[in-house]
Amino acid sequence: MFLGEIYWAAQHLRQGGVVAFPTETVYGLGADAFNPMAVARVFEVKGRPHFDPLIVHIEHVDQLARLTSRVPPLALLLAERFWPGPLTLVLPRAERVPDLVTAGLPTVAVRLPDHPIALRLIRETGSPIAAPSANLFGQVSPVTAEHVRDQLGRLVDVVLDGGACRVGVESTILSLVTRQPTLLRPGGVPLEEIEKLIGPVLRPTPGAGAPNRPLAPGCLPSHYAPRTRLWLREPPGASPVQGRVGLLTLQQNLVRDQGFAVVEELSPSASLREAAANLYSALRKLDKLGLDAILADLVPEHGLGRAINDRLRRASAHL
Ligand code: TXA
Ligand code: MG
Repeated sequence: MFLGEIYWAAQHLRQGGVVAFPTETVYGLGADAFNPMAVARVFEVKGRPHFDPLIVHIEHVDQLARLTSRVPPLALLLAERFWPGPLTLVLPRAERVPDLVTAGLPTVAVRLPDHPIALRLIRETGSPIAAPSANLFGQVSPVTAEHVRDQLGRLVDVVLDGGACRVGVESTILSLVTRQPTLLRPGGVPLEEIEKLIGPVLRPTPGAGAPNRPLAPGCLPSHYAPRTRLWLREPPGASPVQGRVGLLTLQQNLVRDQGFAVVEELSPSASLREAAANLYSALRKLDKLGLDAILADLVPEHGLGRAINDRLRRASAHL
């Protein structure tokens, strides 16, 4: 990656363009957070049927002051420990943040990504960047530049290629506007590490709130779905297989041959970190094979396993 490409991308952003860029979690589809017209283009390109608030990406903690009306001490503690990194904080918004970014909510979601290209891009743009994951609505998030080009092609002005994303699942979203810190989406920072620092975090049970008003509005059940029907295999090893079925599982040696057309292994060493990094590529790979169905095994529900299971459950919710 040449610096020149980043300058060029930043110039597009300053002029109201949209740019796909790598972060440590997944690729983002960015626009200048203070340019509502540019942000509107992000929704247009993604084909989102409704406006869902976006995460605003900053390159320095000082930029919180432009985005928020108040920074709770807990936010600074979390920022100090986990930024740059895959943690998004939901904070009281500043008036000047465009409504399209926050979907009219009194809050704004902010994170400082741990990726040199993302950080440099924000700095050169001179403005925070509002960015959802760079996928079409409801589809699997991209973890390589090629995934972005496959889905969005010429709809975006620039795709910055930073190779494969290290973490592979989206950021953990934590709300600090609720009476007690609340987990809105499990992600790249394990909940256990957050609780070690700040104590108990509320975790709404899946499906909490009205179905049409989820806590993180974009966390609809059917998000992250491949086109091929995906079912959870509960308990692992249970379901008989009919037709051409692919299996997505943590570790292949735990699987007896049960007639699967293909088995996609997330981590030979059963590392949840490696599994998270491989999750979306594995889903894409299976989705391209024209299978009758994909079966997926849940992984242990701790650390990054929470984020993996969350995405698998959503992918299996056929709305
Ligand atoms: O890792 C990530 O977070 C990636 C990279 C690109 O940073 N971004 C990402 O963005 O996953 P997106 O738009 O796919 O998911 C953002 C989620 C949505 O579910 C949205 O509803 C929620 O964050 N969100 C954004 N602002 C919010 C707010 N003010 N209150 C509650 N939830 C919010
Ligand atoms: Mg997304």
